[in-house]
Amino acid sequence: MPAIEGVGMRETPLWSADEVTVIFVLGGPGAGKGTQCAKLVSDYGFKHLSAGDLLREEQDRPGSEFGEMIKTYIKEGTIVPMEVTIKLLENAMKDAREKDKKSLFLIDGFPRKLDQAHAFEKSVVPSKFTLFFDCPEDVMQERLLNRGKTSGRADDNLESIKKRFRTFVETSMPVVDEFESQGRVVKVSATRGPDEVYEDVKTNFKERGLEPIKLTFVQN
Ligand code: ADP
Ligand code: C5P
Ligand code: MG
Repeated sequence: MPAIEGVGMRETPLWSADEVTVIFVLGGPGAGKGTQCAKLVSDYGFKHLSAGDLLREEQDRPGSEFGEMIKTYIKEGTIVPMEVTIKLLENAMKDAREKDKKSLFLIDGFPRKLDQAHAFEKSVVPSKFTLFFDCPEDVMQERLLNRGKTSGRADDNLESIKKRFRTFVETSMPVVDEFESQGRVVKVSATRGPDEVYEDVKTNFKERGLEPIKLTFVQN
């Protein structure tokens, strides 16, 4: 990964909101962010970038100077310093724009702390809105323990889950609250099944002017 100096230092964003559409996807651990993002990708043509996935990839990349640090933060359920996460996101966005001509992004599991929110919007691109999945802890815990049977994730165990819930309430909810006070949050209840939740998501997207891509099949 290239040097990370300069993140958050840029005085103007890399892209304007006209060039690049970013929707932040937030919600507690296990609320179903990744599941809903996968559905949105196939219907709307978004590029889905999960901050957690990018951090795990960087953790496992041979020669990464951040690998050990990321591992510790993830196990403890705490938030990796924003310079690392923002640089990973910025690089992945540049890549998707250059290679796949993408301009629609779902940024999943980010920003998880106010400093990340401010730095990203100031130096990368302002977001369009935040899609927030509201889910009680008992439901999320059950989903995560179930996911843990097959995920192989070091943090899908009860001890790490409790720590992640605490970080979510103390550190990440203030981000949702700040965006909410600015009228920039679309809140969806995440307790029902994936398809029902997705219906609500689509209704809310329509209200915000986002429509699924219509595929036209031409028969030869
Ligand atoms: P997140 O990305 O928010 O941590 P995931 O999308 O990985 O959450 O979902 C966590 C677990 O719960 C996964 O095993 C997933 O299959 C399951 N899951 C996701 N959404 C639902 C839902 N609406 N109802 C029941 N289980 C769900
Ligand atoms: O979103 P996900 O559950 O995959 O995130 C896993 C972990 O990655 C978090 O608990 C946290 O330790 C780290 N993370 C982070 N900053 C983010 C997103 C994830 O530090 N913005
Ligand atoms: Mg996820």
